[in-house]
Amino acid sequence: MSQHHDDADDIGHNDSPNTHFQQVLDTRLSRRGLVLGGLGAATTAVLGVPTIAEAGVPATAALVNPIQSLKFTPVAKSVADMVTVPPGYSVNVVVALGDPLHKGVADYKNDGTDTDFELRSGDHHDGMDYFGLSNDRTGPDPLNGRRALLAMNHEAITDNFLHPNGVSPRPRPAAESDKEIPAHGVAVIEVHRPRGGTFKVVKGSRFNRRITPHTPAEITGPARGNALMKTMYAPDGVACRGTINNCGTSRTPWGTLLTGEENWAGYFTRNANDNTARGNDKSVTSLNRYGRSAGGASRHGWETSGADDKYRRFDISKTGVTADGTDDYRNELNTFGYMVEIDPYDPLSKPQKRTGLGRFAHESGAFSLLTPGLPLAVYMGDDSRNEYIYKWVSKATWSAGDAERADRLAVGAKYLDEGTLYVAKFNADGTGQWIALTIDHPAIKGYAGYAFADQADVVVNARLAADAVGATKMDRPEWCATHPGTGEIYFTLTNNSNRKVDVTSSSQAQVDAANPRSYSDSYAGGPAGSPGNINGHILRLRENGHKAFATAFKWDVYLFGAEAGADPAKVNLSSLTGDQDFSSPDGLWFSQATGICWIQTDDGAYTDTSNCMMLAAIPGHVGDGATKTLSYTKADGSTLTVDTPVGKAPKATQLKRFLVGARDCEITGCCETPDGKALFVNIQHPGESILTADVADPNKYLSHWPGNTGYGAGGALARPRSATVVITKDDGGRIGS
Ligand code: FEO
Ligand code: CA
Ligand code: CA
Ligand code: CA
Repeated sequence: MSQHHDDADDIGHNDSPNTHFQQVLDTRLSRRGLVLGGLGAATTAVLGVPTIAEAGVPATAALVNPIQSLKFTPVAKSVADMVTVPPGYSVNVVVALGDPLHKGVADYKNDGTDTDFELRSGDHHDGMDYFGLSNDRTGPDPLNGRRALLAMNHEAITDNFLHPNGVSPRPRPAAESDKEIPAHGVAVIEVHRPRGGTFKVVKGSRFNRRITPHTPAEITGPARGNALMKTMYAPDGVACRGTINNCGTSRTPWGTLLTGEENWAGYFTRNANDNTARGNDKSVTSLNRYGRSAGGASRHGWETSGADDKYRRFDISKTGVTADGTDDYRNELNTFGYMVEIDPYDPLSKPQKRTGLGRFAHESGAFSLLTPGLPLAVYMGDDSRNEYIYKWVSKATWSAGDAERADRLAVGAKYLDEGTLYVAKFNADGTGQWIALTIDHPAIKGYAGYAFADQADVVVNARLAADAVGATKMDRPEWCATHPGTGEIYFTLTNNSNRKVDVTSSSQAQVDAANPRSYSDSYAGGPAGSPGNINGHILRLRENGHKAFATAFKWDVYLFGAEAGADPAKVNLSSLTGDQDFSSPDGLWFSQATGICWIQTDDGAYTDTSNCMMLAAIPGHVGDGATKTLSYTKADGSTLTVDTPVGKAPKATQLKRFLVGARDCEITGCCETPDGKALFVNIQHPGESILTADVADPNKYLSHWPGNTGYGAGGALARPRSATVVITKDDGGRIGS
């Protein structure tokens, strides 16, 4: 979702009273002594500033030939309707909305008349990973740089462009819903790069597959078979249908895709009397906490398309008479909100909903560096205002042979179905704790806000469990990614309009050390807007002892997004120049080949100056900078100071803008060939801000990309299309070198 249009991302439903700055301040002095005393000797040598050498790089650090200095010419900010990359680089479209994946499917006409999206590329390309395929096309070859399966998310739709004259009012015609529903989900697409050519879709490949909101899936982990998962579709609570609003991704160490279900709640509706129908039981507490209050309209109104079960399921009101919900869809929402594992190499395999990793607005899942004989961790963010950062720690210890096994989903079950879910608490002194979310935790067992029944209830209602233990409210955690050299985990915090100095409602949170900025946007000549964290930041953490299972960590803020001209004492705290400035970081991904940290934006604050963009970065490590103090004047005239550890400001060769996208798009999703010489990036929803009334007039479209480059039908006045592009260096070198 972009921020400025129909922004389901930017909704806060966290009214819990957790971790406001004053509480942190109150405990700060005592905690400082306590926590530092508990750290390993290496990290206490210099307060807050250990070097990597002092802390010790983990034995499994994978980076063999990192790029030390970015050599390309930075791309200027731009509002042109095109994708711009540095001189000496080329960009080509690989697959766009509607492109046929199978033989016999007509080319995309792009005039709103196309159908059969289960056989075509979906819309709103998002997170994406590269799965090398053997040349004989029988199975994995992770090192193949010419043939691969791209597995990617299709997060949402620009619905107006899917129909000849835009969307029809509700009740929605079934023919329109039948296009919109399968335009969501996930795609697995074989791509091949011939000698001297660029990557193309292998149309008709047996691997090509669309997973849609209709596709049968399995519930795994603690909630499998639980009472919360029983529906008319699956009375035994072990199955469900489909995946929706898939945002970030990651590639598991055993060669499968993890796809995060993000803003799923908005696709469903509850009638206005549903709280009463449910007897105001605890399911109402859960539904409200996950953003689905009674009477709320669904995003597309698919439930209005007829009595068929495939539409009916989008109305989750309690209408049945059974006690367990097996005669309606009152529990349907509990089957969404997970990390879903998909085996791209097995077209017949079912998506696996790994409930242990918690239910929230998932983005990516970053794996810890692996150490044989020790558990692994998966780091995750919950993207909604004032939500939390989580990690999963496997019960099983890593066995290197599991990376090669053919029964990939069984390996997934081994590491992702048994383990412990933790939530993060960030302290004001640059330390933090992971708090285990278990039914045995006294604060969870005795939580007054919700009566947890069992561990399944804890993971399905992870937000409520995290409220109970006092987790730290963050500025909308989007992607996270693991530095392949240091093992430190980076998190984008995209922005937060509800981050305040003076908190006046339960939906707001006060500035704190980990979310320290609240300021007004610097419009040229415009009104000063409401203060908040306008441009977002990137936080990173290092586990104590570099152990994935550690329960304490150190953190700092790697970068603050800002306009280059903004106040360096209050806003541009990372001293970004005009070649480096950005707003609303979202996608975040480390190259395993070059070590480059790719930062992608989904912005609505700086878009008067530039379309969304992608930057290349070469970060240092936690503690390489210094503590900065922000000073605020509160409404009552008193002063509020916030100390925050900030990474060293990047040099010109350590952070550069690499790409600017087409108009009204988001840049998201990133993967590469194993040699780092071809980089795949998604251009999501160019020109999505279109009113139904304006669909008939192409001159009113904000974007015509990629038709305006000659790709597909429509030419200079084409309807815009989400698309995957591939970027190569004209001299054949590594991207960013
Ligand atoms: Fe789909 Fe939070 O971005
Ligand atoms: Ca978006
Ligand atoms: Ca995102
Ligand atoms: Ca976003």
